[in-house]
Amino acid sequence: MTQQDEQKEAVAQAAAAHVRENLPQGALLGVGTGSTANRFIAALAPFRERLGGAVASSEASRERLTALGIRVVDLNEVTELALYVDGADEIDPGLSMLKGGGGALTREKIVAAAARVFVCIADAKKRVPVLGKFPLPVEVIPMATNLVARAFTELGGAPRLRAGFVTDNGNVILDVHGLAIPDPLALEARINQIPGVVTNGLFAQRGADILLLGTETGILRFERTRDGSPESKD
Ligand code: A5P
Repeated sequence: MTQQDEQKEAVAQAAAAHVRENLPQGALLGVGTGSTANRFIAALAPFRERLGGAVASSEASRERLTALGIRVVDLNEVTELALYVDGADEIDPGLSMLKGGGGALTREKIVAAAARVFVCIADAKKRVPVLGKFPLPVEVIPMATNLVARAFTELGGAPRLRAGFVTDNGNVILDVHGLAIPDPLALEARINQIPGVVTNGLFAQRGADILLLGTETGILRFERTRDGSPESKD
């Protein structure tokens, strides 16, 4: 196992422990997508009977949860989730994230919006001072691909169509390279105004509340404080 994989495993186990301690018996859990989320799903196995079920952020996660015997519930049957646990491609010091490397950003944003607490699980490589080194994924209605791509070029980015990829919602992904993102909240809102954009991979309006970060020396925990600024709780 690489050091990055060890860190993913450690934060997945820590998040499962957080769920076991904080989620009331029989409650529903929001579950993310990606290699870190996959490890988290596996770590739920020992106490799956205590979960009322899960809302999945992708068909891939739905299949993994179902294979484990965890009931998957449609979000329309749920008014609120206590917790949502997911990975990130990048996370900044304000706990804003860049997500969507796996292409599940739209459903991730929807399920996260229904949750009271977002727990981000990430290895050390994901923590960055400023978002944007990882290309920003944007889900786009297929007929608007060229229109949206031109809008990103005007914004100073270099959009590339993710080849051979169709989202769970039947759309395409543009990966936008070269964007500087000093103000993720403002850019998230601005991109949402481009006609044809379904969702962009900036999670700033609804950032993480808790970050469990795997590092060489163990897990660091960061928590958003009441005034919105994150503080280290390690
Ligand atoms: C999926 O669409 C993404 O948002 C993932 O949450 C993100 O790409 C992190 O993935 P890994 O855990 O595989 O790094």
